[in-house]
Amino acid sequence: MIRSVVQGWGAYLPEKIVTNDDLAKFVDTSDSWIRERTGICQRHVAADGEMTSDLATNAARQALERAGIDGLEVDLIVLGTATPDETFPATATRVQEYIGAHRACAFDLQAACSGFIYALAVADNFIRLGQARTALVLGAETFSRILDWSDRTTCVLFGDGAGGVVLRAEEGEGSSADRGVLSTHLHSDGRQHDLLYADGGPSLNQVAGVVRMEGREVFRQAVAKLSQVVDEALEGNGFSVSDIDWLVPHQANKRILDSTAKKMGIGIDKMVVTVDRHANTSAASIPLALNEAASDQRIKEGDLVVMEAMGAGFTWASAALRW
Ligand code: ACO
Repeated sequence: MIRSVVQGWGAYLPEKIVTNDDLAKFVDTSDSWIRERTGICQRHVAADGEMTSDLATNAARQALERAGIDGLEVDLIVLGTATPDETFPATATRVQEYIGAHRACAFDLQAACSGFIYALAVADNFIRLGQARTALVLGAETFSRILDWSDRTTCVLFGDGAGGVVLRAEEGEGSSADRGVLSTHLHSDGRQHDLLYADGGPSLNQVAGVVRMEGREVFRQAVAKLSQVVDEALEGNGFSVSDIDWLVPHQANKRILDSTAKKMGIGIDKMVVTVDRHANTSAASIPLALNEAASDQRIKEGDLVVMEAMGAGFTWASAALRW
């Protein structure tokens, strides 16, 4: 059975750091409020002229280097993003140009904060079907560009960044002991649109719009949906919670992470947390967290890694992966 095995990983954060105290200088908020309600202490913000494609390219280069391959070996680039450089063409084609992946097919995938897991699922299916052998799966965002910086209920929550993995086809036994992506579970529910959306778009009003959110209701639904989709990942593979070596959640809010972990009965010490330093980087948050935990060797070869995310749409998803 063909498996999509992680061969390399990478990430990039813009240089500029904005602390909670920095925000409190121009919006009615405080470091203590933000920390207490979200666990966020700071976020990275892209420089003027620095675009989603630039962030993604830096992450992609690192992932290719770790995998020991160059761009020409890549068959497929899937970039999860809700903040593309332009309405079209796909930001992934920019990345393709920058890394010299001229043989690849490249496209963006829009599933908001679930974008990385959706992109991983698409790439895994391409690989399993034999349509690609080497795939670059990226999540990259410049959410700072679609925030209403006068709205304290949203502008404190998000940050910019990028991350990604190189997947390569390898023969596996077809058992849950195989390395690689073991399963992905994807969901969406368009009826929940009004709880979280950007109030603009090319067809709606020809502007990018800014984030609008009913935070309390998003919070409530996130905990229920995330624990349910992790259960699906476990049941689908015959695993129990104790089999998980690392839970790598979408980093929206420390309280969502803690409540989900509690509901699932998984120890906080098995969860990778970056939200304190990165804030919510939407589709980039999971590959940024993966990058951190793999680079400092918390995640080791053979570990069972479970990822979960939820975002606008609503979309929600999980992936089980043996590193
Ligand atoms: N600073 C100070 N006060 C604030 C701020 C702020 N940044 N934001 C809101 N407040 C105020 C509100 O105006 C309100 O004041 P009032 O009582 O005078 O009206 C008070 O704080 C309480 O507001 P709530 O919205 O009820 O606060 P809550 O405890 O729900 O926390 C939060 C808000 C942090 C947004 C929370 O609902 C949350 O985390 N929701 C999840 C949203 C999320 O993570 N979205 C990301 C995208 S989806 C995803 O990735 C899963």
